[in-house]
Amino acid sequence: MNAPLLDVRGLKTAFPTRAGEVKAVDDVSFTLQSGQVLGLVGESGSGKSVTGFSIMGLLEPPGRITGGEILFDGVDLAKLHQEDMRSLRGRRIAMIFQDPMMTLNPVLRIDTQMIEAIEAHRKVPRGEARACARDALAQVGIPSPEERLDAYPHQFSGGMRQRVAIAIALINRPDLIIADEPTTALDVTIQSQILSEIQKLTAEHGTALIWITHDLSVVSRLADDVAVMYAGKIVERGAVGDVIDRPMHPYTFGLVQSVPSRNRKGARLAQIPGMTPSPLDLPAGCAFRTRCGRADEACATPPPSAGAADHVCRCFHPREVTA
Ligand SMILES: Nc1ncnc2c1ncn2[C@@H]1O[C@H](COP(=O)(O)OP(=O)(O)OP(=O)(O)O)[C@@H](O)[C@H]1O
Ligand code: SF4
Ligand SMILES: [Mg+2]
Repeated sequence: MNAPLLDVRGLKTAFPTRAGEVKAVDDVSFTLQSGQVLGLVGESGSGKSVTGFSIMGLLEPPGRITGGEILFDGVDLAKLHQEDMRSLRGRRIAMIFQDPMMTLNPVLRIDTQMIEAIEAHRKVPRGEARACARDALAQVGIPSPEERLDAYPHQFSGGMRQRVAIAIALINRPDLIIADEPTTALDVTIQSQILSEIQKLTAEHGTALIWITHDLSVVSRLADDVAVMYAGKIVERGAVGDVIDRPMHPYTFGLVQSVPSRNRKGARLAQIPGMTPSPLDLPAGCAFRTRCGRADEACATPPPSAGAADHVCRCFHPREVTA
């Protein structure tokens, strides 16, 4: 197999706070090949966004990477100078945020913003850049793209605004896109359209995609692989079919049970009992042990890896996986 496009090894990101250090991302490792789609799932506060921001070099101080490597095409992004990171961002790596106004400037016309995004990384005549911007809007399904180029962000609906942000992310044909819950705020029909379009565009260009979501059903539609995060750690990782059909980690099992499925029509959806522990006061050993039906004394120490390299979890008592 080729060297991965992205190879995250033992990433740790922390925020010092007055109450203590929040270890938002704690020893996270995964790889991504060109063209591959990874779903990063987990409940609120599990460290999904911080993982994305760490890769993008967009952590807000005092948050900082305290360990590990983020090898992108062999270069460690965790050690890259800000200037070099800025040159990669928008050109080789782009991010789509939940709120499109993180990308868009409210006081500038769309054409100005899109042309700027192109010219920041490529020398092209103005007319060509504008044509490229128009084509990008058309590609993400914005009607009358030529006229819409002259509009301001507030003249678009929420869904259309997110499409513009996606067009900007795609405009320089990046090798990697990190999408942080970009459709969660939109209604289901629009979510589904945008999802299909992103899937098509990334497949056409061989773009690798990290799709961050708390919604397993989105992941099962979109991703090749899935990584499940809990309290800053990846607790299970593997091909989507394997993880969803045969979850090994009790937390993943709980997540899968809480997704409505056609097979369980009429059955009550299971809820994972208990609450997410405070990041400042995580249980020692396995952080899930206060909520886990399989917990015993062993779980007060750090759990080992179980399973095979292509479907692995961190647990003392993983569920039996029978293929
Ligand atoms: N600026 C910050 N200062 C202190 N702690 C922070 C900061 N940003 C994030 N955290 C903490 O880091 C942890 C991970 O947060 P993160 O935003 O990555 O979660 P998430 O998985 O993206 O959740 P959500 O699904 O709600 O978006 C949380 O405990 C959060 O409180
Ligand atoms: S290590 Fe123990 S507490 Fe943690 S998920 Fe596995 S069985 Fe449950
Ligand atoms: Mg988040």
